[in-house]
Amino acid sequence: MSEGKNLVGVDIGSSSIKLCEIKEGRGGKRTLSRFGYHPLPSQTIVDGHVINSGAVVEGLDKLFHKQKNRDVALRVSGHSVIIKKITMPLMTPAELREQINWEAEQHIPFDLAEVEMDWQILQQRQEQRQMDVLLVAAKKEEVNDLTNLAVEAKLKPKVIDLDAFTVQNTFEMGYGLPAMGTTVALLHVGASLTTLNILSQGTTAFTRDIANGGNTITEEIQRNLGISAEEAEAYKCGGDGRGLVPREVPDIVQQVVEQLAGEIQRSLDFYLATSGEGEVSKVYVSGGTANIRALIDAIEKRARVQAEVIDPLRVVSIDPKTVDPAIFQARAAQSPVALGLALRKDREKTQ
Ligand SMILES: Nc1ncnc2c1ncn2[C@@H]1O[C@H](COP(=O)(O)OP(=O)(O)OP(=O)(O)O)[C@@H](O)[C@H]1O
Ligand SMILES: [Mg+2]
Repeated sequence: MSEGKNLVGVDIGSSSIKLCEIKEGRGGKRTLSRFGYHPLPSQTIVDGHVINSGAVVEGLDKLFHKQKNRDVALRVSGHSVIIKKITMPLMTPAELREQINWEAEQHIPFDLAEVEMDWQILQQRQEQRQMDVLLVAAKKEEVNDLTNLAVEAKLKPKVIDLDAFTVQNTFEMGYGLPAMGTTVALLHVGASLTTLNILSQGTTAFTRDIANGGNTITEEIQRNLGISAEEAEAYKCGGDGRGLVPREVPDIVQQVVEQLAGEIQRSLDFYLATSGEGEVSKVYVSGGTANIRALIDAIEKRARVQAEVIDPLRVVSIDPKTVDPAIFQARAAQSPVALGLALRKDREKTQ
């Protein structure tokens, strides 16, 4: 399917940069040869826009100190991206290329001159003479800002991807394609953004971004207790280092995760009502906020569906000579985007 050398996966998120590099051995055995994590100060990236580019470049410089392989795959934030599944008459890829702009104009609320566009035929239905096409449009300005940042840090960006597809890449590599007739949901809950990607019949059937994530929990703790963001963050992640958490904290966390689980349940219900496909049988959760057990429990209860955290060790084994397994384990839930990026090759064959 693909050939060439693996790229270094670099996930520049609003709370931290995550880096993964994979080595592929004989028989397709994949090893995580490098893992990097660099926290970013708050307000570095706001609503998907890089406000403090110096902090990002400094982080990249540290992560790539003395590194030779600088061919990277990056992710652009969902804030500046539109993903649409559209239905079109059956046609050849060449015909589609000619028609796609006209079609995109009906579906994309941005000026086409301002977006980078990509598409993929998902499914062809010969009987109805129709096909489903996945259309992706990212604002050029955001893509350019991101690549300029990478170039400033002396990196060579080769691929730009989205959270939804990178997590899907990791999931499919670790868990295999869901069996025909089975529908699963991939839910990636980061600091500022939550991305839902429902997989049915082996492809993306529905995606939705929810502008909510771990930051909301931290902000609520901060507001309720009248403390600093750093203290609130420490309490949220399990204590102040001495294992002490004010007794209000679990209730505040519970309230916010209930809201988030409610939004997820409404998205799943909407999908079920509009797609005509079967019910979601399992939700696979990732992103830093997946570490909050109350969120997993709330999703299970509200959506009446099993939920579990994605295990990246199904995709790669750790090389303990270069990656500390304990450090990786602590960040495992945050790694699927960078891992999915690191699975990309520098000379990938597209359709
Ligand atoms: N052990 C933990 N317990 C609770 N929350 C955690 C834990 N570890 C990380 N988080 C939270 O996860 C979030 C960071 O996750 P992640 O790294 O996936 O986000 P990001 O990629 O930086 O942000 P985004 O993609 O939304 O811009 C933060 O809100 C952080 O507080
Ligand atoms: Mg993220």
